[in-house]
Amino acid sequence: MTAAGGDVAAQLKAIDKSSCPSDAERKRAVEEARALLLRLETPVDTALRLVWEYPTIVSGIRTMTQLDLFRKWSALNGGVSASAEELAKSTSCDPVLLLRILRNLATSNIISFDDKPGFFKMTPFSSSLTTPEIEATFGMLCDFHMAIFLGVPDFLKQKGYVNPVNKTDTAFRHVHGTDIMDLITQKHPEFAANMALSMKAILPFRGSLTEDFPVDEIIAQADPTGPLFVDVAGAIGHDTAAFFAKYPQPKGRLIVQDMAEVLAGAKLDPAIETMTFDLFAPQPVQGAAMYYMHNVLHDWTDSDVVKILTNLKSAMRKGYSRLLVHELVVDSYRPNSLASVSDVSMMAIANSKERTDKDWRAVLADGGFEVVRIVTAPGGSFSIIEAIPT
Ligand SMILES: C[S@@+](CC[C@H](N)C(=O)[O-])C[C@H]1O[C@@H](n2cnc3c(N)ncnc32)[C@H](O)[C@@H]1O
Repeated sequence: MTAAGGDVAAQLKAIDKSSCPSDAERKRAVEEARALLLRLETPVDTALRLVWEYPTIVSGIRTMTQLDLFRKWSALNGGVSASAEELAKSTSCDPVLLLRILRNLATSNIISFDDKPGFFKMTPFSSSLTTPEIEATFGMLCDFHMAIFLGVPDFLKQKGYVNPVNKTDTAFRHVHGTDIMDLITQKHPEFAANMALSMKAILPFRGSLTEDFPVDEIIAQADPTGPLFVDVAGAIGHDTAAFFAKYPQPKGRLIVQDMAEVLAGAKLDPAIETMTFDLFAPQPVQGAAMYYMHNVLHDWTDSDVVKILTNLKSAMRKGYSRLLVHELVVDSYRPNSLASVSDVSMMAIANSKERTDKDWRAVLADGGFEVVRIVTAPGGSFSIIEAIPT
C-alpha cells in the first residue's frame, strides 16, 4: 500500500514526539516503529542491523563515553559543529580513529553530520549521555549486560536448555566468573554507585508510589508514634526522597535501607534516616505503617523471595503494617517489550524473573502474605501490590 502523498520517507521523517498526543500514544508509536523497521527491511537488512551494525554503534558510544568526549564537546562549543581533529585535541584519541568512530555514530543518528564536510554535531541523545544517570546506566549495561547475553546461548546449551532457577549457577557467573552482588561489593565497589544511579535513570518510566497509589489512605490510619515508611533495599533513597517531597511533615520516621556500599552514595534530607541492612536478616524496624520494595523482589528466585518476605513479616504489626511491592506485573501472553526484556535479563543475571499476577499471588502467599489490591498506573507497566501478613 502506498502512503497518501507517495513520499513515505518524508512522511516518516515528519513524525516525532510532538506527533503523539500522550505518553501512552508515544510508547505505542515506538513499538509500532520497531515493527515497521522489520516490515521495511529485507531479512538480510534485519540480521545485519542486529548483529553487525548495533555492536559497532554501542561500542562506539562506549568509547566516546570512556573518553568523556560528549562532555568535552559540550564544554568546547555546546556540542555544535566540530571536526574530529578539534575534538581529538581534548582527548588521548588519534584523530583518524576518532573520525572513523564519529562517522559511524553519525550514520546511525547518535550524532549528526554537519553541512560542513568533516564536521559533526551532537544530538539530544548524545547530549543526554553526559547526565550522570544515563551515562552510568549505559556504561553498566554495556560493560556487564551485553557480555552476559553473548554467553547466554552457550550457557543454556551447557545446561541442556532447562529453565534456570538455581541462583548460584547463572549466565552472569558463566561469563563474569562471579555473582553480580559479589562483583559489586568485592571487586568493583564503584559500580554500586552506577547501579544506584541507573535505578534513578529509570524513574521517569517506572511509576511513582505517591502519584499512582492512594498512600494517603494508609497515612490517615498511621500511628504517629511508630515508623511510617521503610524503603527496603531502597538504593540511594530516590523513592523516599519523592515521598518526603510530597509529605514534608511525615507522621513518623522515614527510613532507607540498603547495603553500606550503596547507601554511601545517598544525598538525602537529614529528616530521612539511612540504615545498613541485609535482606536475608530479620527486619530491624518493627511495626512500620509501610514497608516498600521497588524492583527488589524481581532480583530473586522464588525461594529467596520467600526468605526475604519471612524476614519482613517478622517485624510487621498484624492488622496494621502494609507491604507495598512496586514491580512489573507481566501479561504472560502479550507482555510489552519492557517486561519481556526485563524478564530474560533477570534470568541471565540471577536466574530470577518478572512475575505475572498469578506468580505474585503465589510467591506472596508462600511468604505468608495475602494480596489486598494491585494498582497499576494508567498506561503504565509497573504496579503496586498491597499485601498484608496472614
Ligand atoms: C534493583 S535495585 C532497586 C533499588 C531501589 N529499590 C529502586 O527501585 O531504585 C536492588 C537493590 O537491592 C539491594 N540489595 C541487593 N542485595 C541486598 C541485600 N542482601 N541486602 C540489602 N540490599 C540488597 C541493592 O543494593 C540494590 O540497591
